[in-house]
Amino acid sequence: MPARLAVSNQKGGVGKTTVAINVAGALNARGRDVLFVDLDPQGNASEGLGLREAYDAAPPSLFDVLTDAESRGAIADLVHEHPAMDVIPSNIDMTAAEPELTLSRRGGEQLALALDHVEDDYDYVIVDCPPHLGYLTDNALHATGNVLIPALAESTSKRALELLFDHVEALELDYDITVRERGLVANRVETTNEAREMMAWFEDAFPDIPVWEVRKRVALQRAFSDGVSLFEYEEPVDMAEEFLAIAADLDEQFGFGSAAATTASGVEASR
Ligand SMILES: Nc1ncnc2c1ncn2[C@@H]1O[C@H](COP(=O)(O)OP(=O)(O)O)[C@@H](O)[C@H]1O
Ligand SMILES: [Mg+2]
Repeated sequence: MPARLAVSNQKGGVGKTTVAINVAGALNARGRDVLFVDLDPQGNASEGLGLREAYDAAPPSLFDVLTDAESRGAIADLVHEHPAMDVIPSNIDMTAAEPELTLSRRGGEQLALALDHVEDDYDYVIVDCPPHLGYLTDNALHATGNVLIPALAESTSKRALELLFDHVEALELDYDITVRERGLVANRVETTNEAREMMAWFEDAFPDIPVWEVRKRVALQRAFSDGVSLFEYEEPVDMAEEFLAIAADLDEQFGFGSAAATTASGVEASR
């Protein structure tokens, strides 16, 4: 079974989508086969991976897969190819998913059930979450059992993380599952006192999980606009190293060992 990982933080604009795309790109650069699932009804990742048309496509979409058991198997037809990964895009209809899941039986388990139909060939399934703690995020956390948390290095993140951890704890009790925090990605970090203090706070508050630092780089926005991760982007960007470090750590945590040796500039996955 592939390693499944949700990228979540209910705060908007903290870098979930950016981190999810670039961690997926880094894992691919290390030789991993990645399936990327865009669970955000806003479809930012789908757009950032060049799948705007799929976002606007007629049913069946991810909405039907999650809300209609008969359409569950259609998930296999939603897989799109991207140079670095396979992608299941979000869709305009996903804006109706939240209320629909609230009403449905086993509303938090639909993604897990659907993924069983597609994931055989992948090493990783990466799920980009919406910016709120609702049924869609529950589906992501329940289906993956693992979470990578992007957060800004600002004091507002303290409260956001507290809420997220409370939510995860409640979900664990509700579903009798374990959700493991696999790491915290401080994102868009600048050289300010507040950022320095927050980095220290992260290290202090989360001694048991890795804390990474992705600095503010316009190139991350440009790569996004080009529909790619840093690893398919034309110019080299220093932050690629940090995403490779995250990918290497995930490989270790998920038992892929150090089978792949890679540099940021080239894909030298070798076994
Ligand atoms: N490290 C970074 N440096 C510069 N811009 C970034 C960085 N991370 C994210 N951004 C930009 O910030 C905005 C919000 O990021 P995004 O990944 O969409 O957050 P979320 O998915 O949490 O809403 C986007 O415009 C994105 O391009
Ligand atoms: Mg997003």
